[in-house]
Amino acid sequence: SKVTFDYSKAAPFIKDHEVDSMKKLAEDAKELLVSKTGAGNDFLGWIDLPVDYDKDEFARIKKAAAKIQSDSEVLLVIGIGGSYLGARAAIEFLRHSFYNVVSKEIRKTPEIYFVGNSISSTYIRHLMDVIGDRDFSINMISKSGTTTEPAIAFRVFKEMMEKKYGKEEAAKRIYATTDRVKGSLKHLATEEGYETFVVPDDIGGRFSVLTAVGLLPIAVSGADIDKLMEGARAGRETALNAPFEENDSLKYAAIRNILLRKGKEIEILANYEPSVHYVSEWWKQLYGESEGKDQKGIFPASVDLTTDLHSMGQFIQDGSRNMFETVINIETSREELVLQEEPVDLDGLNYLAGKSVDFVNKSAMNGTILAHTDGQVPNLMVKVPEVNEFYLGELFYFFEFACGVSGYLLGVNPFNQPGVESYKKNMFALLGKPGYEAQREELLKRL
Ligand code: PA5
Repeated sequence: SKVTFDYSKAAPFIKDHEVDSMKKLAEDAKELLVSKTGAGNDFLGWIDLPVDYDKDEFARIKKAAAKIQSDSEVLLVIGIGGSYLGARAAIEFLRHSFYNVVSKEIRKTPEIYFVGNSISSTYIRHLMDVIGDRDFSINMISKSGTTTEPAIAFRVFKEMMEKKYGKEEAAKRIYATTDRVKGSLKHLATEEGYETFVVPDDIGGRFSVLTAVGLLPIAVSGADIDKLMEGARAGRETALNAPFEENDSLKYAAIRNILLRKGKEIEILANYEPSVHYVSEWWKQLYGESEGKDQKGIFPASVDLTTDLHSMGQFIQDGSRNMFETVINIETSREELVLQEEPVDLDGLNYLAGKSVDFVNKSAMNGTILAHTDGQVPNLMVKVPEVNEFYLGELFYFFEFACGVSGYLLGVNPFNQPGVESYKKNMFALLGKPGYEAQREELLKRL
């Protein structure tokens, strides 16, 4: 079994001849991608990454993870955007639902906290409370090495670490994941003697989960990174070689573009497992930054169900009809729980006695899919057979490949992110960063 895509429930909205004509366009877009002749073709290192990665570095990642596991109770992972979301998605998907608070006997590996993904002094202070006087390590991740949010967090926690251990020991507890040669983080790492890992030049942040960016924190959490790469290899094999009819990643790219062309401008990624929440966050960055440009794109949104059926459910069922929904279906639940019969049926749930909670969850899912379909929201499904590293690796690749194809179908460069710079310029000007004096005057007048 493998990760698959099923659009049978969207049949009322998609005609066969539409699939036929989009198939040709999707195959052309795929050709543009794999022949590396399209826009942004200097950022395609992720395509062959599952078969063509630095094996020595991979071994070093495992070694560093083992050291962190043996000498730290806490790992801080500092990064934002593509230098953050993949690791968090994987750890929350694969590990215990209460990873950081469950007993050490169950977790077995260090607590892992993410910071540098906001500019909140409260969050930073509170995280210091969590660390207390316990042993900790830091994985500072920034491809450019100059991003403000992680740089601020790093400055603070580096100081805390140097006070606790002294500069020399601190340097042995700081791991820097950054560009091979450039950027302030690289220079700092060389200066201070931190162990470094590389974000390859030709892999953008949002495609970097299977590089050291994701792999080191994921390995520290105790997840099996060999299996993760193995799953990605399987995903790559299908995406690159299977004909359209059996190429689920290609089909997903095609179907979402058919829906876009008929006015479905919002895609809601829905899950029925809390552990999938950050996979959706990772997916939103992947698709949002890749496709939302030149005044085009499908707006990627997400809901956690059934939770959000009690908040966003009304809108999805009955609000503006400009959306479609893609359900991530974890086919086999990790844990089982069977409802028991009660002698007096006060809560009225005895009709479920003997049934599993997952059966109730899947019934909610199936009922919701039909209700949303009746409400004119086309429903697509990505099926994940079960929760493990292999299928997650396959799922990451499935979405990455579809994203590249989909971006080309849309006619944008899926691999740049010019829009991310605008807020930074304003922020630097308002902060008084040297070189931004003229913009500062203009902006202050407008505030
Ligand atoms: O996808 C992107 O390029 C961004 O989201 C970056 O990942 C994010 O801004 C962090 O950049 P960096 O790794 O250079 O600190």
